[in-house]
Amino acid sequence: GFVHLADYRAPAWRVLHAGLVFELDPAATTVESVLSLEPDPARPGQPVTLDGEGLELLAIELDGRALGGDGYAYDGHQLTILDPGRACELRTRVRIHPDANTRLEGLYQSGRLLLTQCEAQGFRRITFMADRPDVMPRWRITLRAARDAFPVLLANGNPVSSRGLGDGRHEAVWENPHPTPAYLFAIAAGELGRVTKTLRTAEGREVELNVWAEPGDVERCRYALGAVDRSLRWDERRFGRGYDLDVFNVVAAQDFTMGAMENKGLNIFNARYILADEATATDADFLAIESVVAHEYLHNWSGNRVTLRDWFQLSLKEGLTVFRDTEFSSDLHSRALKRIEVVRLLRGRQFAEDAGALAHPVRPDRYKEISNFYTLTIYEKGAEIIRVLHTLVGEDTFRAGMDRYFADNDGKAATLEDFLAAHAAASGRDLAQFARWYAQAGTPELAIRADFDAASGDYTLTIDQHTPATPGQPEKQPLLIPLRFALYDADGGEITTPPEADAVVREGMAELTAARHVLRWRGLRGRPLPAFNHGFAAPVKLQVDYSVDELARLARLERDAFNRWDLLQRLATDALLGAAHAEAATQTLSDVLADLLEDTSADPAFVAECLALPDFDTLAEQVDEVDVEALVGRREELLDRLAEDQVERLQSRYEALADVAAGGLDGPEMSARALRNACLSWLTRLDPQAALAEAQFAAANTMTARLAALRCLLHFQAPGAEAALAAFQQQFRHDPLVTDKWIALVATRPHPEALADVEALMASNWWKATNPNRVRALLGSFARSNPLGFHRRDGAGYRLVATQVASLDAINPQVAARLLGAFESWRRWTAPHRGPAREALAALEGKLGSPDGRDLLERLLG
Ligand code: ARG
Ligand code: ZN
Repeated sequence: GFVHLADYRAPAWRVLHAGLVFELDPAATTVESVLSLEPDPARPGQPVTLDGEGLELLAIELDGRALGGDGYAYDGHQLTILDPGRACELRTRVRIHPDANTRLEGLYQSGRLLLTQCEAQGFRRITFMADRPDVMPRWRITLRAARDAFPVLLANGNPVSSRGLGDGRHEAVWENPHPTPAYLFAIAAGELGRVTKTLRTAEGREVELNVWAEPGDVERCRYALGAVDRSLRWDERRFGRGYDLDVFNVVAAQDFTMGAMENKGLNIFNARYILADEATATDADFLAIESVVAHEYLHNWSGNRVTLRDWFQLSLKEGLTVFRDTEFSSDLHSRALKRIEVVRLLRGRQFAEDAGALAHPVRPDRYKEISNFYTLTIYEKGAEIIRVLHTLVGEDTFRAGMDRYFADNDGKAATLEDFLAAHAAASGRDLAQFARWYAQAGTPELAIRADFDAASGDYTLTIDQHTPATPGQPEKQPLLIPLRFALYDADGGEITTPPEADAVVREGMAELTAARHVLRWRGLRGRPLPAFNHGFAAPVKLQVDYSVDELARLARLERDAFNRWDLLQRLATDALLGAAHAEAATQTLSDVLADLLEDTSADPAFVAECLALPDFDTLAEQVDEVDVEALVGRREELLDRLAEDQVERLQSRYEALADVAAGGLDGPEMSARALRNACLSWLTRLDPQAALAEAQFAAANTMTARLAALRCLLHFQAPGAEAALAAFQQQFRHDPLVTDKWIALVATRPHPEALADVEALMASNWWKATNPNRVRALLGSFARSNPLGFHRRDGAGYRLVATQVASLDAINPQVAARLLGAFESWRRWTAPHRGPAREALAALEGKLGSPDGRDLLERLLG
């Protein structure tokens, strides 16, 4: 059944301290736990109820006295003890089986390591606990294991002591002095090597930073270690937040369901977000590593020091931390490029989620399975809402609000109301309407109409706000939306006179609060040209009618780099989605791209972003019914046409950038590779027979260059493709992360026949259903990034994915549920696709054993 936000009750029993002793062994680990329990005096007479999922209970005693069968009850999910009537100490011993744990939740084995993943509700698979974020004990964790198999023993907090135990075993004791909920518990044990660095924090604390990996991978941890250092310094500078333990440990794991986890003092990562060198990681990998490292580090304040009252508040830590990590990347690198990256993700994926069968508010008011709410909406839209607040109040007031939030809630389990209260106090604003962003699902749409009266010179902008219905939410209220605007006169000058308005307007920004607003300028000398939503400050869909000439003028007038990119996306969209002026839009787009390619003063990475047309998902989001083949076909045609127009410029930029692109991780070097690879792709498209991609593949000394070349060879079915793939496979066969890269390329070959390749890989030794990265590389890429394969007319793509969802559900329900999410927009696919999709989903009914899978399937079909 559902858990409802409205049903929240504070715990009747608190856990003040947790003392755990692990006897670690992959096949059978025993966990002894001593919990200091204290009743809430306001709620006497309540039993102690603790979560414990599938635990083998070996011993149980209360205050030193063994409990008999009538003293407690355990049904495999919950342990209940009749009200002891006073503060007491509960001692239990349980046995668990890490090597049989394919869910990768709780304590599990990855390679020869033993690791944990507890968020959201994995701790209850380790031992008994009030497994809810508002129960925050202090912890003492003792790890014991065979020294040769498990030489390194890590847990949360600070190391206290270690010693040999005789018999080939040893022990390490850790203490976490900060009140910490069980979802942030972690241990890691095994043969680990590290890179390390000691620094002194701004507050004067000496901290040892370590990044750990299996011994052969240690050298590839250096970049991640630098990223930890940069994150720590950035949080000191930008948010005034210091680090609060003597050590900060990070561990890389090859088997990990999500990206990474912010466990207190012991972050555990999917190895793909740690391991990198130029020979095995692309520039995009480096940037992603830095941003995920920052994300997890920054959680130490937004999530750990201030944690969540309940899981409905998930975006309180995730949206806020995405906002913070995005600011980190923007401060360190190009703000415009980061914005483009984020907006692509929003438009391509989050908007689709918000418009599909799985749409939900950033703060849901009920859920069946919390694991299904680690979504783009909670994370990315949640971060956009914080950005809206930041835009409304400005950096200084925002910082004051954050300081207040951290001060008022430090060591506590907070709610979004606490967050809003801190910002309301700091800004003096009433944030009641702003709070609707958290309650309402669906992407708001702004339709803007411009009217000009030539006789009077009166110009009005009428702005209508509308949020479409979403599952369970037929009616929507207007949101508080900051809309940036600019007006250009005939000479390209900006009109700075503020309009008369029925909304607060300041410095080129209107605060929209009602379903309709009108902005009016009087006595203008000619019809101005308006521009909107600079930097995509409002995460909305905009409808503005522009002629192609206007778009072309704007593309040259706008100084905001993001908006210039956005105008090109708009031109491409008009060219693709059959606007009346499609041909004119194509021509204009081509002209602007020509200028850009000739502009050697523009950041080459920015030019590369401009060459990248809106992707399939982004386009699909803008049509009522998605005709997959037609959409892909039109997009390919446009690319062919544009590439033809630009061929000489592409060649010349490709050649000119060769030297800078040859190696190194500085901005200009990465930028050069980005544009070179964009050029290579367009040139190979024009002439797959040409040996350009083959030559780049052979000469490459970075993974960025090598992988881009391999992609061109495979996706344009160039003559050297097979040989290159074989060489690549062979060279990196012992590296699972690089293996995932070629597998993803095979799975995304834009052809219906890619299905057969995917099936062949699943029948080969490359397939590993228990490894989430491998599943994502093969099936995730196929379902999410190969429209022609997944949406095959015969439904074979849907059947393959659905069948795999059923078998993965029994292995790792979260991985299976993610994959099932690829069907979220199925109701908008054209009839020939909708039918087979529905059948594939219907065939899953009764075949999914996990709550995750069942919840998702029900919402998809519901
Ligand atoms: N808190 C982690 C992060 O954002 C993600 C944990 C996801 N866990 C899950 N069971 N879905 O950094
Ligand atoms: Zn997070």
